[in-house]
Amino acid sequence: MSAKFAVLGHGVVGSGVVELFYKNKKSIEKHAGTEMDIKYILDLRDFPDSPYADKFTKNFDVILNDDEVVSVAECMGGVEPAFTFVKACLEKGKSVSTSNKELVAEKGDILLQTAKAHNCNFFFEASVGGAIPIIRPLHRCLAANDITKVAGILNGTTNFILTKMYNDNMPFAEALKLAQELGYAEKDPTADIEGHDACRKICIISSLVFGKHVYPKSVYTKGITEIQLSDVEASDVLGYAIKLIACVSKQDNGKILPSVMPMLVSYDSIMSGVNDVFNAVLVYGDGIDQTMFYGRGAGKLPTASAVMGDVIEAVKHNVTVFSQSWESSADNSFVETIDNFTSRWYFRVPSGSDMGGVEVYNSENGLSYVTTEKLTFTEAKAKAAELNALAYLPVLE
Ligand code: HSE
Repeated sequence: MSAKFAVLGHGVVGSGVVELFYKNKKSIEKHAGTEMDIKYILDLRDFPDSPYADKFTKNFDVILNDDEVVSVAECMGGVEPAFTFVKACLEKGKSVSTSNKELVAEKGDILLQTAKAHNCNFFFEASVGGAIPIIRPLHRCLAANDITKVAGILNGTTNFILTKMYNDNMPFAEALKLAQELGYAEKDPTADIEGHDACRKICIISSLVFGKHVYPKSVYTKGITEIQLSDVEASDVLGYAIKLIACVSKQDNGKILPSVMPMLVSYDSIMSGVNDVFNAVLVYGDGIDQTMFYGRGAGKLPTASAVMGDVIEAVKHNVTVFSQSWESSADNSFVETIDNFTSRWYFRVPSGSDMGGVEVYNSENGLSYVTTEKLTFTEAKAKAAELNALAYLPVLE
């Protein structure tokens, strides 16, 4: 018997899932322990020249009501109609594997609970870190640890842009255009460059690690649009790379503090060498000390690889419900305010400002670039206002 699955969405990731499946069908079937095939591909557009043209449908109900379809790969993106479709599939006992971080970050608790109630699985390995296996390691391989902190480069587009700015002196807009052409960026690149995509991913990690749904609106999020080539040059001289860091850490008061900000990463840290579209996630736990995960964080086949891994798992363990899930959260009182975030800081200030800083890099454009001692976010903000700072960024601890 052949296990049939459907692919919702034929964009970058969805078309990658179809391509990878047929490329490696024989070995995929060996891993799944059964023959497999794609029965439907859902998309509103027409693909008359596709070798799989006969599989396309515009009608979701055809997939939902076909009992032969045991598993669904959701690669549409966005909360709706993805949420309605995914929930309906789970209620019918069809396992779902998704690459849709917005969906998991907004509705993960509900979908995981729905899957459990209907004896099937909601998998989302592809929603964080593209090709990198991070979801399963966090809740299975590392389950024996008290995880105190997770910090990562979780957006390929911004890491690609920052790398181009560093290595090629390429202006921001040109690097963004290139990232879009390579299929890394979201449909609306605002989500990448303003940090919303990384925010969704740290929400998923936070919810998984700490057991309660963390919503994007509870997470302080700042993107990379204020970073200038002069910051890149100055931070390099000071011994740092600027990276968009998504981070969550356990606080002494028991709360958690998630955030997304561009940060200075010391050249002593392995994270500073994570370049181009690559992502990296550093996990800190009492058993493991630090473990780093590294790989391609965006792109067609890397993301499809993670989706297909989940589909194989879903087909192989059709009636096993894996226990990763987290509680819904009515309020965000377990999330610490960003005001208490503490670190050393980097400031771009008018030359001559008295920062009392330990390291200063003066460029010729009337600006100084300084790193400070430890300050809370509130103190750094006050200092920035006092000195008319043009930018201030934390230094990753
Ligand atoms: N736009 C995302 C990124 C895609 O650049 O990381 C992968 O989630």
